[in-house]
Amino acid sequence: MLYKLTRPLLFSLDAETAHELTIAGLHAAGKVLPAGKPLPARPTELMGISFPNRIGLAAGLDKNGEAIDGLARLGFGFIEIGTVTPRAQPGNPRPRLFRLPEVEGVINRMGFNNHGVDALIENVKAARFGGILGINIGKNFDTPIERAADDYLICLEKVYPLASYVTVNISSPNTQNLRQLQGGSELDDLLARLKARQAELAQRHGRYVPMCLKIAPDLEDEQVLAIADALRRHRIDAVIATNTTIARTAVQGIRHGDQQGGLSGGPVFEASTRIVSKLASALAGELPIIAAGGVLSGPDAVAKLDAGAALVQVYSGLVYRGPALVRACVTATDHWHAPG
Ligand code: FNR
Repeated sequence: MLYKLTRPLLFSLDAETAHELTIAGLHAAGKVLPAGKPLPARPTELMGISFPNRIGLAAGLDKNGEAIDGLARLGFGFIEIGTVTPRAQPGNPRPRLFRLPEVEGVINRMGFNNHGVDALIENVKAARFGGILGINIGKNFDTPIERAADDYLICLEKVYPLASYVTVNISSPNTQNLRQLQGGSELDDLLARLKARQAELAQRHGRYVPMCLKIAPDLEDEQVLAIADALRRHRIDAVIATNTTIARTAVQGIRHGDQQGGLSGGPVFEASTRIVSKLASALAGELPIIAAGGVLSGPDAVAKLDAGAALVQVYSGLVYRGPALVRACVTATDHWHAPG
């Protein structure tokens, strides 16, 4: 109801101003309103965590963890904040965020704008939220790609005590060469170092915090198979499929369709779901899949479960459908039964 009233105002503003207003509104709501609760559903167990419902917020909406309590009011089963980098950085010049309303899509080339990991930690500590919090980590734009692992390790170490799980984001198209970490010896080296540090941290803190890897939708079948193999060998706890796409076939001739960056929302649904299916057959249940990409309705969320995901995240759908999307997805997926 409130969203029906505010949507025309938000859509009259440029996309990033609307985003900033939304974060400010959610921040304020989180301060004054009673604590939010996840919408009730049958819980889902994965990574050693009991998720109160299957619907989560995808990374990138609340990069600094400024609006956690306000977001909790929307009923998510889990909230992922970030991507955060070791040092604060401004991201790319504006404009860098575009709506494609004809297809309910978004293109962003934000470039990991964030206040740095220390600021995020302060925000998490200040929040009342007691639910499941994922913290998504990345590298600074000016850290050479050969040293990327150092940045991930700095972030992992700092966020570890506060996170329910940590997501390693190697799939943003807006940080140069980042996605090359998705293959070959780069991926093996990165995962090996992260797992070794995770083991040390689990000892030090007396708590095992699971680690997810977030991948792109723009991968060939062989690349998906190689990633699935690496996930198994390194005992990664879950995989998030997917980030935004660099493909533009679905938005040819549409206003803003030629903007550079990552495309999300409706136009990425199919490519993302295809990756979920590929992973599901390659992993054969050995580790769980969290789906993200173009979920705009309850049936879309169900389609992700049908493809093999255990949990579903949303971001762009919230821009077009508002907070009602969360309830629609929770309700639809709560009645889902594994086929067969
Ligand atoms: C994102 N996404 C994203 N992902 C991530 O891992 N770290 C990030 O910082 C961001 N930033 C970001 C900004 C904006 C403006 C958008 C629209 C998206 C990707 C997001 O988490 C998700 O994986 C994709 O957008 C696909 O899901 P939706 O948006 O189609 O539901």
